[in-house]
Amino acid sequence: MNDKQLVALQAAKYAESGMLIGLGTGSTANYFIDELARLQRDEGLKITTVASSTISALKAQSLHLPIVALEHISSIDLYVDGADEISPELTLLKGRGSDLVKEKLLAKAATTFIVVADESKLVSHIGQNFVIPIEVIPFAWQLIKQSLEKIGAQGDLRPNAAKDGFWVTSHGSYVLDVKFENSLDAKTLNDFINNTPGVVEHGIFYDLTDAVLIASNGIVCERRA
Ligand code: 5RP
Repeated sequence: MNDKQLVALQAAKYAESGMLIGLGTGSTANYFIDELARLQRDEGLKITTVASSTISALKAQSLHLPIVALEHISSIDLYVDGADEISPELTLLKGRGSDLVKEKLLAKAATTFIVVADESKLVSHIGQNFVIPIEVIPFAWQLIKQSLEKIGAQGDLRPNAAKDGFWVTSHGSYVLDVKFENSLDAKTLNDFINNTPGVVEHGIFYDLTDAVLIASNGIVCERRA
């Protein structure tokens, strides 16, 4: 069993019958979805799920997990998802796959948000290994880019797969992938980007995490916020 699978199985121990559970997106979240399906099939777990992306919804459906649409929920009991980066204060960077709008809605709506990852995701500061994805309303991208440049950002619109146009998210947004050369802290970045008109959402998940499960060489450790 690899480390991603190990943390996913550990997180599934938080699932209880009667819960509405948010399904994350990515390879670690996929192991969690697999385990929920196994618990439903083999151990009688009775849950309802809500997905953070089309790909996770399709996976849940194929495994016969009951699923509701995001627009029909007002809160959820548990959300389990991976992350691209995790800082010592448990701020996250997410959204490499550009599903961050639904991911952040579920993280905020959850009574308990548990992040599952292997130790490669631990960083000293957000933006250390990956660019910060910022979903923007298409006609606002130049104005937003300029605003961000004023506080030290460098970056551009994410290209599409064929590299002949721009990536468009499932909500019709463009994605600006930016890097900050200076050492602005996550709270400052989060506040600044939140206050920039035309931004739909961004990949810094500040003050949303309840617990992180990190696996390293077969051993899981839990950190609480
Ligand atoms: C998608 C995400 C993923 O959770 C993140 O990219 C981690 O993926 P993986 O579990 O495959 O390493 O934020 O938007």
